[in-house]
This record gives sequence, C-alpha cells and structure tokens, in this order.
Amino acid sequence: MAVVAVAGGTGAVGRNIVEAFVSQGKHEVIVLSRTADAAKEKELGVRLVATDYKDVAVLTKILEDNNVHTVISALVMMPNAGGPLEPNLIRAADASKTTRRMVPSEYGFPQYKEDGDILPSIPMKQASLHALEASKDLEWTLFYTGYFMDYFGMPNLPSYLTPYVVLMDILGNTAAIPGDGNKPVTFTHTSDVGKFVAASVDLEKWDRVSVVIGDKVTMNEAVKLAEEAKGTKFKVVYDDLEKLKRGEVTELPSQTSLYSVIPREFVQAISSAFGIWVDRGDMDFDEDTSLNKKFPELKTIKLKELLEKAWKN
Ligand SMILES: NC(=O)c1ccc[n+]([C@@H]2O[C@H](COP(=O)([O-])OP(=O)(O)OC[C@H]3O[C@@H](n4cnc5c(N)ncnc54)[C@H](OP(=O)(O)O)[C@@H]3O)[C@@H](O)[C@H]2O)c1
Repeated sequence: MAVVAVAGGTGAVGRNIVEAFVSQGKHEVIVLSRTADAAKEKELGVRLVATDYKDVAVLTKILEDNNVHTVISALVMMPNAGGPLEPNLIRAADASKTTRRMVPSEYGFPQYKEDGDILPSIPMKQASLHALEASKDLEWTLFYTGYFMDYFGMPNLPSYLTPYVVLMDILGNTAAIPGDGNKPVTFTHTSDVGKFVAASVDLEKWDRVSVVIGDKVTMNEAVKLAEEAKGTKFKVVYDDLEKLKRGEVTELPSQTSLYSVIPREFVQAISSAFGIWVDRGDMDFDEDTSLNKKFPELKTIKLKELLEKAWKN
C-alpha cells in the first residue's frame, strides 16, 4: 500500500481521482489543499493536508512527513491561480526522500509551445513539463484523456466540472463543427479519468504518456448520436480552418449564458483553438498504446450511453 497525495483533490478532476482511489481501497490517499477544511474532509472521506504551493521546502516536508510515494496533481492550470504553482510541487516531489512518482495536471491532449497562449493553460503546462524534465529521479507520466464527455450531459447529469459549451450545444439543438467533422475525437468522462489514474498507480512502469480513451467518435457521429437521443434535428454549421485560424467560430446559443463569467471574445478564442486541434486530429489517440489495453476490465462510459441518459425523453 502506497501513500498517494492528490493535489487539488477538492477540484473537479481531483475529486474523481480521490473517489476512484477510495472505492478501489488499495492505497492510502491524502488530499493536498490550500485550506484544511473539516467539512470538505468529511465530504471527501480522506485526510486533507493544508499546503502552501509557494514554498518548495514546506511542500517537501509535507510529502516526507506523510510518507508520500506518489503525487497526483489535479491542480487548476489557469493563470488566475497566481502563476504556475505546479512546478514547485514537482520540485518538492523530486526533493522528497519518500516520493518516487508524479502525475502533473494534464488530462487533455498534447499542447504544443507553438500554440502559444490561446488557452492560458498551455504555458502553465509547459512550465510543468520543463520542471519534470529537469527532475533528477522522478518517474512521471502525462495523462491524455481527450475532451471531457461530462460537458455533453450538462445540465441534466451531475459533474464536478464548471459548465462549458463547445462543439455541440445540446440544449440549443445546434452544433458548430470544425472542418468536415470526420476527424475522430476522444471523449472521456471524468469518472473514467479517475478510475484509470487510480489503476495506473499499480503499474510497475509508467510510459511518458498515459492515454485514456472513454470513447472515440467523429463530430459528425457525435451530432447524430445527440440528435437521436433528443429525437430532434440539430442546426449544424461547419467552420472551415480559415475561419478558425482567424479566431472565429460559430456562436452556439447556450454560449451566451457563459458570457457573464467568461467574455465572448475569450469563448470565441478558446472554441476556435479547440476546433483547430480537433481538425488537426490532436484527440485521435491510438488505442493500441492506451491504458484501456492494459486495463481491459475497466469499462468506460460511451458517448451514446451518456447522451441517452442525459437527453432521452
Ligand atoms: N480535457 C478537458 O476537457 C478538461 C476540462 C477541464 C479541465 N481540464 C484539466 O484538468 C485539470 C484540473 O482542472 P479542474 O477543472 O479539475 O480544476 P479546478 O477544479 O478548477 O481546480 C482544482 C483545484 O486546484 C486547487 N488550487 C490551487 N491553487 C489554486 C488557486 N490559486 N485558485 C484556484 N484553485 C486552486 C484548488 O484546490 P484547493 O482549494 O483545495 O487548494 C482546486 O480545487 C487541469 O489540468 C485542466 O486543464 C481538462
């Protein structure tokens, strides 16, 4: 039994990881959090350790005092969190005498330096990658899980994620498809992300990249599944690459509800970048090298199943 510390285990992805470890029951799990909150601790059912991400020495001591073998980060990766915090956690994991392994907060798809900072998480994740590459003897792996499927069940199915609308606005019966819609896209539910992360702790060796494929469908297939689930024809618009490269994307009706929290220009910028990556095939992961092959007993939620649960009748 190893001690696993989930940094940001109170957040959307982190909670799914913590829940998976708790239901698996094989390892002792602690959550690193900026605040020790007794109510949250009770809710999560695991020990919460108050952490200051700004201080590597403090972090190192926390990891050693708690005999942490594996650190799994699910920290927020947006700059409004006060700059990149995760590199400090990586440096502490590397320095800690008890810690051997580290998973950074990735949970998406490869993000390239040349994609700039369209998505503010790109430079944050690049900073973490540099810290991992500079580590002395840490074993680490990046989890690529595609786009979270939870978004297509909102608001009808529960999810810890903050609501967001991109590609398909199922409530608004509309889809904005990048390119010709024939590129396969990986969609994974956050609960399945949790299960695979927890299972991977038992692997003897980690590859640099750990791919999890909940389901893989093209956007044309996804829209068809959503239409069937709702019993309604959608308005479907195809955004060509030139339009996406200009930072423009067809506005989805339900996106307007996001604008009080995320400005329209930002939604357009993120959605168009996301469209380019879908069209580039960045989420068309290889099944043969995926963790699904290593853990065939872990069945994942399929998009059809999620859409029917959320939208049928
Ligand atoms: N593939 C996808 O579709 C997709 C979608 C969403 C997210 N993601 C990725 O998943 C990862 C986790 O995202 P998430 O949405 O789960 O994160 P989140 O819920 O927004 O935040 C996770 C945790 O970060 C901690 N945190 C530390 N410093 C913080 C600060 N200054 N401000 C706010 N929170 C802070 C908080 O824990 P405490 O308060 O306990 O300290 C929080 O619970 C990221 O790498 C993100 O890019 C992927």
